[in-house]
Amino acid sequence: MEIEINLAEPEKRKVSQFEELPFGKIFTPHMFIMKYEENKGWHSPKIQPFSNIELHPAAIVLHYSQTVFEGLKAYYGIDGKIRLFRVWDHIARLNRSAERLCIPQVDPEFVFKAIKTLILIDKDWIPKKKGSALYIRPLIFATQPNLGLKISSEYLFIIILSPVGAYYKEGFNPVKIYVTTEYIRACPGGTGEVKTGGNYAASLKAQELAQKKGYTQVLWLDAKEKKYVEEVGSMNIFFYFDNELATPALTGSILPGITRDSVLKLAPQLGIPTKERRISIDEIIESIENKTLKECFGTGTAAVISPVGEICYKDKSYIINEGKTGELTRKLFEYITGIQYGEKEDPFNWTVIVED
Ligand code: COI
Repeated sequence: MEIEINLAEPEKRKVSQFEELPFGKIFTPHMFIMKYEENKGWHSPKIQPFSNIELHPAAIVLHYSQTVFEGLKAYYGIDGKIRLFRVWDHIARLNRSAERLCIPQVDPEFVFKAIKTLILIDKDWIPKKKGSALYIRPLIFATQPNLGLKISSEYLFIIILSPVGAYYKEGFNPVKIYVTTEYIRACPGGTGEVKTGGNYAASLKAQELAQKKGYTQVLWLDAKEKKYVEEVGSMNIFFYFDNELATPALTGSILPGITRDSVLKLAPQLGIPTKERRISIDEIIESIENKTLKECFGTGTAAVISPVGEICYKDKSYIINEGKTGELTRKLFEYITGIQYGEKEDPFNWTVIVED
């Protein structure tokens, strides 16, 4: 399929300069948009000036949340080249999410072409400062007007771009997380392992509560026993014990994060063995108390690697590594960002250089 391109007025294309980039509040001048109709399949792909969209008030997504999304980043490298990080893994996950939400599959090669064409048009918006990047947000949602609960026969696929800085106001400094025993994020057989808006909407109540208590994010426990650690609001979670770097095994209700997978592959390169296993909250508390938990950090595309300095469980606060960023956390952060910005060798060929 050919992508129709309709460029914004030169005035609108001028790059805005920002002292500090917020996360997800600034958008580039163009967007990609493509329609799906049952009898036609995906059709009429366009890159057009960034604009609001029109939706029927009965669009299925607005009522029943039939929608999926992805989040990936393009980096401006130290060699002036633009790199996409694990773009094919993100596209594959988009299709896995779509499958779970009964949304039609998209052609991975075509999605790659759409992302590449769009970022090259808005390439001047890729921030050059290390620590910042161009966040790419592909999303697909059900547009058929119908108040009956059914699989939509119409969809929109949109890609928008946002120059971003650090996700948390703390930057690369330890965040404080709150273990909720009241709410759950996802249950076996649910949608926890895919990227759909409903998972995030359902997390807001606990997040609000955690923030009121002075914590940045929620640490979720499993739905059945409320005993095993699953993930944090917008990240997967890692614990560095005396002899291993462990993260909760993917049980079906945990998002298979791409940064999570990258850390699992990079840590052994630094001589640190990794383990995906069940990790109980009791084990965490005990290992903080007996000091066998050396470090804790979260991973995610938006958050990259975010040190965790404090965990609150049953209204008691536990400090990890004196509330400081740990050495392994820093090394992994430098390793992964080094690959993303083209400073370090990319042993797994994760980056794709994008050129005209
Ligand atoms: C990401 O890390 O890319 C996400 O999609 C999480 C979102 C809450 C920003």
